[in-house]
Amino acid sequence: MCILESKRLILRPPRPTDIEAMAVWLSDYDVARMMARIPHPYGEEHAEEFLALAPNGRHVFVIERKDGVFLGMTGLHPDGDGFEFGYWLGKPFWGHGYATEAAHRLITYAFETLGLATLHAGWFADNPASGHVLAKLGARHNGSKLRESKARGRAVLCHDMLLTQADFLRKEAA
Ligand SMILES: CC(C)(COP(=O)(O)OP(=O)(O)OC[C@H]1O[C@@H](n2cnc3c(N)ncnc32)[C@H](O)[C@@H]1OP(=O)(O)O)[C@@H](O)C(=O)NCCC(=O)NCCS
Repeated sequence: MCILESKRLILRPPRPTDIEAMAVWLSDYDVARMMARIPHPYGEEHAEEFLALAPNGRHVFVIERKDGVFLGMTGLHPDGDGFEFGYWLGKPFWGHGYATEAAHRLITYAFETLGLATLHAGWFADNPASGHVLAKLGARHNGSKLRESKARGRAVLCHDMLLTQADFLRKEAA
């Protein structure tokens, strides 16, 4: 897997030395509850397990600032509907446009390098910041359904978003 670069960020494959940072940031309930597959509490054993499974058809990247600070992760996960993309950042790093910048780079990789035609992503209805990131990237609402949030231990209303390469490029040009 390759290393991707954007203006402020490096997207690189995860390493065992990322386990500590993953556990620090993903053990924050405010991060975990917005994700479908992150349990709470979250410890280093969960990060180890995730990294052991990481390839498995997935494309997982650490989002690192160019000064070397671990910010979070992003990736593409194959599922029944093609590829789902997702992202998370440690709370201190929210609000600086990093998620949009990282997702933009990941999506360019998915369309240009992997040759995918569409991607999809879901956001829980109580997570408007993520909904806003997806809208900024050109994704369109494609239905809503209840989806399990592992950390919350219950199903939560989730909006599914579809991103086509044409919409992504249109948004980029706007
Ligand atoms: C969602 C998340 C990735 C956003 O990261 P971020 O780097 O702060 O996002 P960005 O700064 O790139 O963009 C966020 C946008 O949402 C907007 N926003 C923030 N809070 C908002 C709210 N409550 N309502 C509406 N918009 C909001 C911001 O203003 C920004 O838009 P702008 O650039 O037009 O001003 C981050 O909060 C996070 O990791 N949350 C926990 C995990 C998670 O939710 N992952 C996504 C699962 S779908």
